[in-house]
Amino acid sequence: MVEAQKSSSIVLDDRDRLFATGAESGPDLTVSLGPLRLQSPVMPASGCFGPELGSLLPVGELGAVVTKTLFADRRSGNPSHRLTESADGMLNSVGIPSPGTSQFKRQVLPKYRVFGVPVVVSVGGLTVEEYWQVTDELADARFEALEVNVSCPNLEHGGLAIGTEASAVEHVVSGVVSRTSVPILVKLTPNVTSIGDIARAAERAGAAAVTVCNTFPGMAIDVPTRRAVLGNGVGGLSGPAVKPMALRLVWQAASAVGIPVIGCGGISTARDVVEFLLAGASAVQVGTATFTRPYAMARIQRDLAVLCNELGVSHLSDLTGALRP
Ligand SMILES: Cc1cc2nc3c(=O)[nH]c(=O)nc-3n(C[C@H](O)[C@H](O)[C@H](O)COP(=O)(O)O)c2cc1C
Repeated sequence: MVEAQKSSSIVLDDRDRLFATGAESGPDLTVSLGPLRLQSPVMPASGCFGPELGSLLPVGELGAVVTKTLFADRRSGNPSHRLTESADGMLNSVGIPSPGTSQFKRQVLPKYRVFGVPVVVSVGGLTVEEYWQVTDELADARFEALEVNVSCPNLEHGGLAIGTEASAVEHVVSGVVSRTSVPILVKLTPNVTSIGDIARAAERAGAAAVTVCNTFPGMAIDVPTRRAVLGNGVGGLSGPAVKPMALRLVWQAASAVGIPVIGCGGISTARDVVEFLLAGASAVQVGTATFTRPYAMARIQRDLAVLCNELGVSHLSDLTGALRP
């Protein structure tokens, strides 16, 4: 890893260099998500990590890698601009460009496999059948879990995400579960009245875990031109700005289900991870933090070991749901 740091053109700040202290005699950071065993609770959030980052951080130390959401056919995504900064966060309207399943299997998936950690393939669909089609088409591919992204706009329901309706989530996830033997994670949208109802629907359908949550809808306006900054008009807000909202959703989802919850939204430090664990998460995903500090996940993970030692926690799982009333 030291070699990777030296050869990288990214200048790591002093905090990144402190990671080694105390991590060797660390606590047990292993995590079980149903049948899926992870060496660490830290993994990238879908769409925020690519194999090209492999030279910048020790990906093989992470819990897993998660791919960008995959659709059945090739898609080009939304018009530019696709990204813009906002206070303490970022807005994106990438629109999920996708290589389609056959190119994904040939050219993309092998690049994720080289890290030697479980590969989670994120799957999407503009119709219920598309989620099932992608799952079927992945039958001859090697990966350790699927993450069903139920935040995609559903063309059969006027563009509303499947994830906004409990019965639709149960329907689509049951179909995916019946088509594959790998564990299924379900990535929930925050744009719902009751996250508990949606998480329970995923659990009933056979999900091994739920990921809470995807981005929050938002908008940015450029005053001189009086136009929306994003080419798509609206986008998804992520980063530290959403952390308190994501934390609340994790706490509510974890109170509603017996399956593990993976916390996601604004995590950029080990302390953030501990907050999500206390709220009920068993593992976490890191997205936006990687855009400003590509080394963030490795730093978070190593700091987490140090923080657990400071807190007197020998098993990470002791923190899950340990929020005091
Ligand atoms: C540029 C960008 C692309 C994303 N693409 C996807 C995607 O393909 N599938 C998905 O489920 N979530 C996607 N997300 C959402 C993230 O996985 C994550 O849920 C969200 O950003 C909140 O976490 P964060 O605050 O740590 O970034 C994307 C987020 C960003 C910023």
